[in-house]
Amino acid sequence: MTPSLGDTADNTVSAAATGGGAMPPVTVTSRVTVVGSGNWGSVAAKLIASNTLKLDSFHDEVRMWVFEETLPTGEKLSEVINRANENVKYLPGIKLGKNVVADPDLESAVRDANMLVFVTPHQFMEGICKRLAGKIRDDAEAISLIKGMEVKREGPCMISSLITELLGINCCVLMGANIANEIAVEKFSEATVGYRRSRETAAKWVQLFNHPYFMVSAVEDVEGVELCGTLKNVVALAAGFVDGLEMGNNTKAAIMRIGLREMKAFSKLLFPSVKDSTFFESCGVADLITTCLGGRNRKCAEAFARNGGKRSLDELEAEMLQGQKLQGVSTAKEVYEVLNHRGWLELFPLFKTVHEICIGRLPPTAVVEYSEHTPNYSLVEGSAQYF
Ligand SMILES: NC(=O)c1ccc[n+]([C@@H]2O[C@H](COP(=O)([O-])OP(=O)(O)OC[C@H]3O[C@@H](n4cnc5c(N)ncnc54)[C@H](O)[C@@H]3O)[C@@H](O)[C@H]2O)c1
Repeated sequence: MTPSLGDTADNTVSAAATGGGAMPPVTVTSRVTVVGSGNWGSVAAKLIASNTLKLDSFHDEVRMWVFEETLPTGEKLSEVINRANENVKYLPGIKLGKNVVADPDLESAVRDANMLVFVTPHQFMEGICKRLAGKIRDDAEAISLIKGMEVKREGPCMISSLITELLGINCCVLMGANIANEIAVEKFSEATVGYRRSRETAAKWVQLFNHPYFMVSAVEDVEGVELCGTLKNVVALAAGFVDGLEMGNNTKAAIMRIGLREMKAFSKLLFPSVKDSTFFESCGVADLITTCLGGRNRKCAEAFARNGGKRSLDELEAEMLQGQKLQGVSTAKEVYEVLNHRGWLELFPLFKTVHEICIGRLPPTAVVEYSEHTPNYSLVEGSAQYF
């Protein structure tokens, strides 16, 4: 870390320093494309577009790839976005900025960009990357705002790694206590960029996203930041079950604490390089809190528990979210597969139980049955240090 990038005592690159005059001179004008246009994708495009207008180092126009849909009016979503400057389906009532251009053609949307912001539900990313392979600029850099992971036979694959593997480019991540609808109306929040090695690249992403109402800092810990953002959705489901069962605040706090402990242990068992300090950034404890208080995973899990588990989470997702995607249920399944494959199930009673509740194997009340499930650390040598 060099002081010119605004290192703070806790080893982060601060937004205030990168947003001011301390940035290294950037000679090339960067072009940004946002791949994804759901709720968070649209808010990210708005945030970025207000900055590209102000910063000389970025081209004004921000392309946004839209997974094309036909609206009930018969119009195409991308055409309506370009006419009304508003994503009427996923972010109604918010102007995106005139310099946001919706493009339903994936290849044309990325063709000129050297800064690619990926923000789609995680289950679509493998297909998107395969379509983009060989079609992007040689000097492209990526950042992923996506929460989730892919589980393959050889083991778990974080979305940033998937992007790097399939597209051959460096990929940072941005995660945080960021419920999109609140940022859309410019309520103050913070976020964390996770980067690998290049501080200059991290500083550029911080500069692109940072705003007086959206304070961004960076830490050199891609896996830690990304796993925080991914795993908290599983804990949010548990918090929703607690809400649906009307168990109260003490129980919810206990679930959040146990969840944070499992998040940290799981991350460090998978990637020993993950830093403890990352869990105290916005991507860690702050995102966990906001997701367990608000957020769509908590909301659907609450409805699931109120119905005694009789209506499936798929059904509730379709009814309550209207096209938006619930990431926690698939992440809980993916985490379970990793735990099962590695023989770690007994170490992670909360993660294990959440998945078993989601698939109907256990009732929602099982979320607080812990006394018989004390983790047996001797199952995995050296694991006790991570809990
Ligand atoms: N919404 C939030 O508050 C929030 C905050 C932080 C992070 N995130 C993360 O951002 C990512 C994107 O979420 P979002 O809220 O922008 O989306 P969303 O759930 O609001 O919308 C779903 C999106 O998926 C698209 N889609 C549907 N089928 C598709 C397909 N076959 N291929 C490609 N795209 C398809 C839809 O057009 C839509 O743009 C997720 O990983 C989510 O966890 C969301």
